[in-house]
Amino acid sequence: MKIVIIGSGTGSNAEAILECWKQGNLGKAVPVAIFSDKPEARILTLGAKYGVKAAYVDPGRFKTKLDDEAEARYVDAIRAEGADLVVLAGFMRVLHETFLNAFEGRIINLHPSLLPAFPGLHSIEQAFNYGAKYSGCTVHWVTAGLDMGPIIDQSAVRIEANDTLDTLESKVHAAEHSLLPAVIAKLAERS
Ligand code: GRF
Repeated sequence: MKIVIIGSGTGSNAEAILECWKQGNLGKAVPVAIFSDKPEARILTLGAKYGVKAAYVDPGRFKTKLDDEAEARYVDAIRAEGADLVVLAGFMRVLHETFLNAFEGRIINLHPSLLPAFPGLHSIEQAFNYGAKYSGCTVHWVTAGLDMGPIIDQSAVRIEANDTLDTLESKVHAAEHSLLPAVIAKLAERS
């Protein structure tokens, strides 16, 4: 199962996937490319580290989505890699029809909350400020509704009285780094 990872930032989750693969724990899943909408994003540096293709793909003129031409560029780039699964790991743009139709049922996203609670941005902060007693992360299929696709798996973390936003963020990210590779390995088993 060939996977293409797409992200905009640090790439700690991409790194968790690649590290898991390097250790031989990603089952039949093989990361074949990393694409980013940010030319300077750290996620792109992981390509050289793990021997995987990494490239910037021009996102077009908008800030929070891809324009039609840019969606087509992403679709072409991903298709060229023969991707069976597209993994959104911190990709900070909303996807629309061209992209969603091209890979229907083959796109997963990682979100830092126990969906359906706290969709959208700043989810960890939202849960913390709300006074929730549990936070966590979710991997779900991507559909047209933002953070609304069917849930594949989740991992919960307890919010303790002495947690700060910083410690909570660390706990949620640690949970993400375990959950996402595990979900990918499981999907690969079924493929
Ligand atoms: C993660 O918290 C993920 O849930 C969210 O964006 C963050 C990406 O972090 N969608 P990283 O780039 O993988 O370090």
